[in-house]
Formats: sequence, structure tokens, C-alpha cells
Amino acid sequence: MALQLGDIAPDFEADTTAGPLHFHDWLGSSWGVLFSHPKNYTPVCTTELGYTAKLKPEFDKRNVKAIGLSVDKLADHEGWSHDIEETQGTALNFPLIADPDFKVANLYGMIHPNASDRFTVRSVFVIDPNKKIRLTLTYPASTGRNFDEILRVIDSLQLTDQYKVATPVNWKQGEDVIIVPAVTGEDAKKLFPQGWKEIKPYLRVVAQPKG
Ligand code: BEZ
Repeated sequence: MALQLGDIAPDFEADTTAGPLHFHDWLGSSWGVLFSHPKNYTPVCTTELGYTAKLKPEFDKRNVKAIGLSVDKLADHEGWSHDIEETQGTALNFPLIADPDFKVANLYGMIHPNASDRFTVRSVFVIDPNKKIRLTLTYPASTGRNFDEILRVIDSLQLTDQYKVATPVNWKQGEDVIIVPAVTGEDAKKLFPQGWKEIKPYLRVVAQPKG
């Protein structure tokens, strides 16, 4: 069965551009973003990897480690890394898994045979410090992902965990948030002593708590 939200992210050992790693040990107490690339030396993947490297300060701020995967050999990853630095202006600063035998790709359901049995789709898994999967995304090979959106979801998840708030449609950092329905009126008074705007009993809006 496909991996679902709330499942424990499967553990694995793999060779990467940063050396061999044991996934859960490597994650430690961080959040993780594991994302797959259909193939080395392809244009969309090249732009995604360069952009993700540029986002490293944003990932660090949120205690997130990024890790990519491509079903090619480690030696090929090394050659491609030079191209990424040359064309995108940023060197890879996170590990890229070499998965030529599809071990990790199959573990995470990144091969969708009716799309291709040779290349992965563009999967994203956001994993929390308890190793639980908190977001899954699947994009087609020809569409680059929006990594700003992935950061936005991580911000939302971290706000929910820390403050029991949810984020409304198209929410952006600094905008109002919503008290989660499971919080009773009594508990809300303790959690949000400054008060909130009750549009409906189930729609209670409050300023975004400061992280
Ligand atoms: C790419 O990564 O650029 C790509 C991969 C497969 C199909 C189309 C584009």
C-alpha cells in the first residue's frame, strides 16, 4: 500500500554524494524533505536542485534537512553536481542519493509504472522529528516543483505542532491563522489570552503566534 500521512518514513541505507548514510540516523532530531528526480542530466531536475541548494538558510532556520534521490549511479551524480553549480550558481549542499537498483524508490513508491517503469515521478515526503510522514506530493516528470510551497507547508505544520493553529487558504507568513477545531473555548482562552475573532463557532481567527 502507498505510504500515507502519519506513517513512519521507511528507514534505509544508501550511498549519497555526501557519503553513505543510514536515513533515520542522518535525520536525527531534524525535519526532513526527501524528494526524487526522474533522472540525472535533465533540465528540470537541474533547476530544482540548484534552487533547493539556495534555500539552505531557510531549511536551517526551520531545522529541516533536505535530501534528493535519483536512480543513477554515484559517479554520475558527481559529474552532474558540477553542471548544477555551473548553471544554477550554487553547489549542492545536501546529499543526493544514488539509487541505481531502485531500492529506496520502491520503498517510497516513487516509481509509478503507468507513467514510467524506468524513472521516478517527482515525489516529495516531508518527515517530522518523530519520523512521521507529514506531507506527500507527486508531480509529473515534466513539471518542476515549487519549493517555496514546501517551505510554506513546513511553516504551517510547525505552527500547528507548536501553537494548535491551522493555516487558511493561500496563507503566507505573518498572516492570521485559525484555532484548530479540537481546542475548546476554555482552552483557547488560556492559549490565546489576547482573544480571537469568532466568525463562526468553528472559524476562530487569531494573529499568527510568533515563533
Ligand atoms: C527533466 O527533469 O527535465 C525532465 C524529466 C523527464 C521528462 C521531462 C523533463
